[in-house]
Amino acid sequence: MTNTLNLRTATLADAKILLAWRNDPQTRAASHNTDEILLENHLAWLESSLKKPEQRRLWVAELDGNLVGTCRADKEDNGWELSWTVAPEARGQGVAHKMLSKLIDTFQQPLTAQVKKDNMASMKVAERLGFVIEKEESGVLFYRR
Ligand SMILES: CC(C)(COP(=O)(O)OP(=O)(O)OC[C@H]1O[C@@H](n2cnc3c(N)ncnc32)[C@H](O)[C@@H]1OP(=O)(O)O)[C@@H](O)C(=O)NCCC(=O)NCCS
Repeated sequence: MTNTLNLRTATLADAKILLAWRNDPQTRAASHNTDEILLENHLAWLESSLKKPEQRRLWVAELDGNLVGTCRADKEDNGWELSWTVAPEARGQGVAHKMLSKLIDTFQQPLTAQVKKDNMASMKVAERLGFVIEKEESGVLFYRR
């Protein structure tokens, strides 16, 4: 056990685990689109995302040989919007903070994040990383850093 978290670029080989995390009930509840995603739609989305790193970047976090979470960055006019998910079995152990603190150090540009306002754990994660609330709309907090 090293407790060192490694963040690497996602690949097509991660498709199954990323879909399982995306379709996990808590992840769905925290997402804008709460529908269950079908494998074929997910594969098409992942394949096209991986081809356009200037628009979207995806990472997978590994801890002691286990896949424990994922982060995503979507290009905006003036920076990147971040989003994140921790593997269900790895929640409650500070993984989101660990992977995001590694990630945000690699960005020079402004960062944003959207968090539903009932998602206390994610609000804490964002605020501990220095994100501040810019506005609230329809139950969603818009963070900026
Ligand atoms: C939300 C999520 C990312 C949190 O990641 P995590 O690594 O499991 O976070 P933790 O449980 O370690 O909690 C992070 C912080 O929130 C606090 N917290 C957790 N649950 C809480 C709750 N219900 N109320 C208040 N604080 C809470 C923790 O104490 C911790 O605080 P600390 O930094 O002061 O120690 C993870 O649960 C997840 O992936 N959920 C589903 C998908 C999702 O919500 N993605 C984010 C969309 S914005």
